[in-house]
Amino acid sequence: MVHHGKAAMVCLTQKTALAEFVERQRKGGATLGFVPTMGALHQGHLSLVDRSALECDCTVVSIFVNPTQFNQAEDLVLYPRPLKADMALLNVSSCGALFLPSVSEIYPGGAIVQQQWDFAGLDKGLEGQFRPGHFDGVAQVVKILLECVQPDVLYLGQKDYQQYAVVRKMVELEQLPVDVRVCPTIREHDGLAMSSRNVRLSVQERAQATELSRTLFALRDQLQGAGSCLPDMLAQARTWLAARPGITVEYLEAVDAETLSPVQHWNRTTTVLLCVAAWLGGVRLIDNVLVSHAG
Ligand code: PAJ
Repeated sequence: MVHHGKAAMVCLTQKTALAEFVERQRKGGATLGFVPTMGALHQGHLSLVDRSALECDCTVVSIFVNPTQFNQAEDLVLYPRPLKADMALLNVSSCGALFLPSVSEIYPGGAIVQQQWDFAGLDKGLEGQFRPGHFDGVAQVVKILLECVQPDVLYLGQKDYQQYAVVRKMVELEQLPVDVRVCPTIREHDGLAMSSRNVRLSVQERAQATELSRTLFALRDQLQGAGSCLPDMLAQARTWLAARPGITVEYLEAVDAETLSPVQHWNRTTTVLLCVAAWLGGVRLIDNVLVSHAG
């Protein structure tokens, strides 16, 4: 028996079934919001679903662990896939339809990257340095998913800020008729950014992981306060973080939030993205914060 007012969520695995669902919604005059995910859902994902439900009549969520964006075979194999729990969460959320395609449904010709774009350098630094080909895989799968769902609004998380920048660029280059909106990072009580990979942390690693957001918050406060020399602040923070046991830093950088190019001196007219990537044991985590004049 259904106790809540919302219509039951439908679960679709075929593109054709999804197209029919979308067509029915459109005929009824509904606006569509879309939240693409790789599953292992947490409050971060669900915040995107909530935002979509606030702004759109119908929300479609996809769960698809996209092989072409994993640059390490082990990461793809170890990626958590708790489908039952995910469906239970979505069933009580505002999700109207779950799209759950197989790899061959998305890639009938094989899971390889077919298309590359000129992202104006947005894909080159930060994650791009350490995950070659990652953003080509992301942009391609988001394009395919957008073609299936044809939403009015695409919701992405700030947690993966560079992904948002690259996808926004792909949408612009492809002239896709979709509004791309970014939603704030949802955190655990101790500041750790929620991530599907957090479940792979040991108890010790989980405790150490809070150092990433603590470092970003401290840098943000420093920058907003006296605004001392950015390269010195970053160098100090890198040294401090590198001295924490169990943490191996890949990068800790300050970039312009529009161009993602490094910022040396902040003149308070632009927005700065402070971002970090680090390994805790075998788990790679990323996080970021935005710093603008307004706070
Ligand atoms: P996934 O890592 O599952 O994330 C799905 C969406 O949730 C992304 O837009 C991501 O930025 C957002 N998200 C993740 N953690 C969040 C948090 N703590 N707070 C707010 N939002 C958060 O990102 C992907 O999947 C894939 O690359 C995908 C876009 C689905 C393409 O395969």
